[in-house]
Amino acid sequence: MATNWADSGLDLHVALDPHRKTGSLEDALREAIRDGRLAPGTRLPATRTLAADLGIARNSVAEVYARLVGEGWLDARVGAGTWVRERPAPAFAPVPQARVDRSTRFDLDLRGGLPDASAFPRSAWLAAVGRALAETPTDALGYGSPDGVERLRAALAEYLARTRGVQASADDVIVTHGFGGLLGLVARALAARSTPGASGGQAERAPSGQGAGRRVAVEAYGHVSHREVLEAAGLELVPLPIDADGARVDLLERLDVSAVLLTPAHQFPTGVPLSRSRREALAAWAMRTGGFVIEDDYDGEFRFDGRSIGAFQPLAPERTVYSGTASKALSPALGLGWGVVPAELRDDVRAERARTGGATDALAQLALAALIASGGYDRSVRELRRRYRGRRERFEELVAERLPDARVGGIAAGIQCLLELPPGVTEAVVVAEASARGLRIGGLAEYAAEADLAADAAIGSSGRPALVVGIGAPPQHRFEQAMAVVVAAVDAA
Ligand SMILES: Cc1ncc(COP(=O)(O)O)c(C=O)c1O
Repeated sequence: MATNWADSGLDLHVALDPHRKTGSLEDALREAIRDGRLAPGTRLPATRTLAADLGIARNSVAEVYARLVGEGWLDARVGAGTWVRERPAPAFAPVPQARVDRSTRFDLDLRGGLPDASAFPRSAWLAAVGRALAETPTDALGYGSPDGVERLRAALAEYLARTRGVQASADDVIVTHGFGGLLGLVARALAARSTPGASGGQAERAPSGQGAGRRVAVEAYGHVSHREVLEAAGLELVPLPIDADGARVDLLERLDVSAVLLTPAHQFPTGVPLSRSRREALAAWAMRTGGFVIEDDYDGEFRFDGRSIGAFQPLAPERTVYSGTASKALSPALGLGWGVVPAELRDDVRAERARTGGATDALAQLALAALIASGGYDRSVRELRRRYRGRRERFEELVAERLPDARVGGIAAGIQCLLELPPGVTEAVVVAEASARGLRIGGLAEYAAEADLAADAAIGSSGRPALVVGIGAPPQHRFEQAMAVVVAAVDAA
């Protein structure tokens, strides 16, 4: 089937395969951009118009546009529609998930995991930097321990025991460039242990079967960048489905993996906490097989429903790498994260750090230690918790009023939630509608480790398509506006 879109203001001849119209439209657009028939800056027809011209569903056209925006071929801007990007992505761009090009400019960004940067306690931080500089002896300004500044490691051990129930002494703590930095070190350490002849000898301790040392389980939904870090270290990922009790850690026994990366307090991004029985099963698996649990406690401090869900680590401290970050309670700009590393893995992690460098800025560490000691860090957490609790309530209200067929989930904790879409509405269409309004936001599928698993996993009770809404992200004065754009995008889909 050949079609000419002159009617819709775009003069382009493409041949569509009648048996896979959507797929061939996508291929044809990519091809036309690649060979220059669709020049940079060219405006594409509205989804409704093109769908009518081609005789396919509007949702399908919107999905194609959203995917091509994600791949960097197209741009979508507030009130202006969809355009061919100025510098299209190279032909070999990978296309596993709809991912938005980092250079695309959006007015609002509500992706999951982003904190409210405007809440950073500037004066408390300034005072902490001043105190750190005034109190720090000169020799602390030379080369220090690659594990991090002793004062901060001691402060973190106390803070984590008090607020998260973590069992740690200062010697167990390592300070890294955010959680990402820690994960990279741990991933490379695990990979090295699985290599015969490498230090540590994990190959002999692998749970069972050949190659288990390189197989690491991840949650079926999570941060793509964290999966990339694991893969870059040479590890093979095995996705775990998620249900109403959290990740299916009960499957670990059968999966022949040497480690598992989890967000037990508040699964990212679905928001489901790991249930008590699953935690027990996880601890039993780790103890029995010698497997490691990498616990990403990225927003454990932000719980709003009065149910305190402590860290998993105390259930199996010798088998758990516990990790936290200052990116949520303070700011990602600090680039500070920490790990509590079990004795068995510590030398391997240190060896990786020695091999790859990357000790963390000591002055920032000293300032964070001073902030914790002064109670400023606790105050920041309490203030943010109050602020985010208010946002959560307001968002629930707004959805109940404006989108009665949608449902909010995963909102008992953390800084993002799931907006389960009204029946019949697809994620890609809402994401495209949001892009057209200058809002960057992701559908749940964008976080999936594997397309098929994403479709199978039952999230919450409905398993419906959902939007991941970062309620923490907008500055306070723009929160209402941001949520109104979310509602408008769903409404228009
Ligand atoms: C699931 C999850 N883990 C950890 C982090 C923190 O990462 P980092 O400390 O590298 O900023 C984030 C931040 O977005 C996150 O969403």
